[in-house]
Amino acid sequence: MKGVVLAGGLGQRLQPLTRITNKHLLPVYDKPLIYYPIQMLVDAGITDIMLVTGGNYAGDFLRLIGNGEDFGLSRINYAYQKGNGGIAEALGLTREFVGDDKLVVVLGDNILENGIATGVEAFSQQQEGSRIFLKAVDHPWEYGIAEVDGSRVKGIVEKPQNPTSDLAVIGVYMFPPEVFDIVNGLTPSARGELEITDVNNAYIERGQMEFEMVDGWWLDAGENYEALLQANITVARQAGIEI
Ligand code: DAU
Repeated sequence: MKGVVLAGGLGQRLQPLTRITNKHLLPVYDKPLIYYPIQMLVDAGITDIMLVTGGNYAGDFLRLIGNGEDFGLSRINYAYQKGNGGIAEALGLTREFVGDDKLVVVLGDNILENGIATGVEAFSQQQEGSRIFLKAVDHPWEYGIAEVDGSRVKGIVEKPQNPTSDLAVIGVYMFPPEVFDIVNGLTPSARGELEITDVNNAYIERGQMEFEMVDGWWLDAGENYEALLQANITVARQAGIEI
């Protein structure tokens, strides 16, 4: 199983914090944000990892993370995304690295209380298709929102104006290697991005999408200033700091 951490894009929502650095290098309590998704993969037993980044500060990731020594790794693979063509475009850059393996994709700004080890285990037993993780949220218009019927996902709408549920698709996606054929066939959305939601909907249309609910808190720390602050507080409290 391969791991992919996506930290591309231009992170324009957090100006001026991101004027002289990349959003994923901003602090969350005692570590840069990007440490959390990398550590989450390693904790789930996934040690063959590619990090996709971009923009003007890509070199800083190399200086920070190096060969992954802080995570007990001896090597990390890197890819560079020009611009912000979307999460699925960033994923497409990892095709050769992933090869014929299954993969777990984690967005570089997502943090989970309880990690993904059980989800990875379930996915390794899964015969076909992909796997997503859902969490009820207060502001469904800010996320990809899933409509669910029993154990079946009926469809996902990216940032719906009139959400039909409050179940957000979190930034952890598990795919078989054929996902790259779907990525290659995508066309840009109205906001000019190749959307991960279109990839997931392709699996839903084929009847090849499993889902599970997230147990514990989930943070999309890069969403806005409040989310970044909330991430700092939540992670510090988890470490036993009184705030
Ligand atoms: O966090 C969960 C949400 O993430 C999902 O519910 C949405 O369906 C999904 O589209 C995504 O929404 P966001 O608005 O949070 O995506 P954002 O543009 O903030 O990108 C999230 C991460 O993906 C970002 O930290 C880095 C990576 N990314 C993003 C873009 C646009 C890239 O690597 N390249 C890109 O071009």
